[in-house]
Amino acid sequence: MDISRAITLHLPKRIEIGTGSAAKVGEWVGEGQRVLVIAQPVTVPMVESLGISGAVKVFDGVAPEPKDTDLDAALEAAREHKPDVVIGLGGGSVMDIAKLVAVLWNGTQSLEDVAGPNRVAGKASRLAQIATTAGTGSEGGIRALVTNTKTNAKTAVESPYMLADLAVLDPELTMSVPSAVTAATGVDALAHCVEAFTNVKAHPLIDGYARMGMTLAGQYLRRAVEDGADAEARAGMLLASFYGGLCLGPVNTAAGHAIAYPLGTHAGMPHGISNALIFPHVLAFNAPVAEAKTAEILAALKLPVSADQGNVLDAAHGFCASLGIAMQLRDHGIAEASLRGWAEEAHGIRRLMDNNPRDMSVDDVEAIYRAAF
Ligand SMILES: NC(=O)c1ccc[n+]([C@@H]2O[C@H](COP(=O)([O-])OP(=O)(O)OC[C@H]3O[C@@H](n4cnc5c(N)ncnc54)[C@H](O)[C@@H]3O)[C@@H](O)[C@H]2O)c1
Ligand SMILES: [Fe+2]
Repeated sequence: MDISRAITLHLPKRIEIGTGSAAKVGEWVGEGQRVLVIAQPVTVPMVESLGISGAVKVFDGVAPEPKDTDLDAALEAAREHKPDVVIGLGGGSVMDIAKLVAVLWNGTQSLEDVAGPNRVAGKASRLAQIATTAGTGSEGGIRALVTNTKTNAKTAVESPYMLADLAVLDPELTMSVPSAVTAATGVDALAHCVEAFTNVKAHPLIDGYARMGMTLAGQYLRRAVEDGADAEARAGMLLASFYGGLCLGPVNTAAGHAIAYPLGTHAGMPHGISNALIFPHVLAFNAPVAEAKTAEILAALKLPVSADQGNVLDAAHGFCASLGIAMQLRDHGIAEASLRGWAEEAHGIRRLMDNNPRDMSVDDVEAIYRAAF
């Protein structure tokens, strides 16, 4: 037990959790408020279940894996509506945009001005986040990720001002997530826990959340993928996703997410899928320097425990493949010629690479891409 490294944990001011909890949003919003809901086309019908009255505008123009241009469109909608309250209703894509809208719409700061940690000047609206996928845990965190269309890299903004005043975890809203999205987002949640757990910045408090998240994923991810109507499994995965989100603020991810990012920004792969393809390789790469924790991860996923890198890779790869995820980059239309450049780019994402417990060279990253190809 070593807590010599001090960390800061930010939590949403209020958390409503449980079946039907989305209906509590109206009471929290209160009377006479101007509300902007940032939704996805598929979540627009859920607005009704929130019980909000007053001047409600719904904006559903945010594409998955949002870009700065999506943010601009959402900001324009906010400047027109002048919301007292911003609500993110959807997956990580809209929750991340809602965070940025809540802090930027009424000020002079641009996305560029706030990129990185702690550069946001303040908050313009109250913020509620309602997760409808079980993956990013964005509802519990202080970070937002948006693709810069000039560089094709993800811009990460981090600020306690972007923390939700209300986070809602209502598993009923996740029941309609299709099997393939359930699998991809579920591996993202798992990867948040695993990468924080084996991180150079790992912390006993966060290890606790990570362990709970990994155990829930081991127990429920396959069930949720195989039967979307399994309410217990949906609830378990929504919790796993929330715990994963809590791992991100004070510790964050490491090489797995860094190597996954170019697949999303250059090839348009959904965040969860890109993570699933990379996750087994990084787990195996790190195994020699994180033997005990790797064993815990495998046990939590009900996989055979082994210190052998080949066995670790096979087990984790098999776990993701059993969720129906096509595990080769070539299956996703990726050209092999891109891999060296992407390896250099991923290696350059030092904010994550420096968190990895085992140092990785550009050649190591390229070898992972080739093995996953
Ligand atoms: N802020 C963070 O800490 C953090 C962490 C991880 C990922 N992210 C970001 O989050 C984004 C990915 O989020 P995501 O994985 O949740 O995917 P997403 O928000 O892009 O949603 C994936 C798909 O599922 C659909 N969907 C959402 N809810 C649904 C429902 N209830 N029923 C049916 N379909 C539904 C969406 O319309 C979309 O097509 C990426 O941009 C990633 O960079 C952020
Ligand atoms: Fe992620």
